Amino acid sequence: MNPALEPATRLIVALDFPDADAALRFAGQLDPRQCALKVGFELFVVAGPDLLQRLHDLGFRVFLDLKFHDIPNTVAAACRAAARKGVWLINVHASGGLEMMRVAHEAVRETNDTTALLAVTVLTSSDSETLRETGVSRSPADQVSLLGELAVKQAGLEGLVCSAQEASALRRELGDEALLVTPGIRLEGAGDDDQKRVMTPERAIAAGASAIVVGRPITRAADPAAAMETFVSRLGSAG
Ligand code: C5P
Repeated sequence: MNPALEPATRLIVALDFPDADAALRFAGQLDPRQCALKVGFELFVVAGPDLLQRLHDLGFRVFLDLKFHDIPNTVAAACRAAARKGVWLINVHASGGLEMMRVAHEAVRETNDTTALLAVTVLTSSDSETLRETGVSRSPADQVSLLGELAVKQAGLEGLVCSAQEASALRRELGDEALLVTPGIRLEGAGDDDQKRVMTPERAIAAGASAIVVGRPITRAADPAAAMETFVSRLGSAG
C-alpha cells in the first residue's frame, strides 16, 4: 500500500522550461487540483525564488529538485532556506552520508511542517561502470538499497526519488510510509526520449510509487491539456 496521497500530489509535472515566462505560461494552463510541479536546476538558476512564489500563488505544490550534496552544515542551511520558501518537496544526494542527511532533515523539520525531504540514491544515468569509476564495487541495485535504508531508516528522511524499476524492492525494504517519487514514466507506444528504463503510470503505482514525475510526455505534447487528462485518468484508475 502506498502512503495515501491526494490526486494533486500523485502527478508531478516537470516544468523543464528555459525561463520563467514559458514556465508560468504552461503552469497557467494546468489545474493545481490535478498535479504538483517540479522545478529543476535550469529553471531555478534562471528564475529563482520569485518563480516559486508565483507557482505557490497559482495554488501549486512545488518539488524543488536541486539535489543538494555538500558538507552537512551547508546542505542543512540550503534545506532550511528551501523549507522557508514553503516548497512541498526538496532533495539531497544520499551519497552525502548519514550526518549530512540527519542535519538536513533536522533543519527541515524545525522549519516547515509541510516540507518533505527526499534523497536521490543512485542516479538512473549511472550504471555499474559509473559506480566502479567512483570506487563503488556494489551493483547499482545493492547500492540503491543501501542508500535507501541509510536515508529513510537511519536519517529519517520522508522518502526517495527513484526509478520505478527500483520501487517494489524499496517499498518492501522501507515499508508503507516512505514517499517514493519516480520519474521515467511513459505511456505505451510513446517515444522514450533519453530515458532508458521507462514504465507506465499504472505499473509504477503498482510497483509501489507514491507519485510519478512526468515531463516531456505532457510539456512537449501536441495537446498538453489532453495529455494531462490522459495521465490524470490513468492515475485515477491505477488504484
Ligand atoms: O521529460 P521526462 O518525463 O523524461 O522528465 C523527467 C524529469 O525527471 C526531468 O526533470 C528529469 O530531470 C527528472 N529526473 C529523471 N530521472 C531521474 C531523476 C530526475 O528523469 N533519475
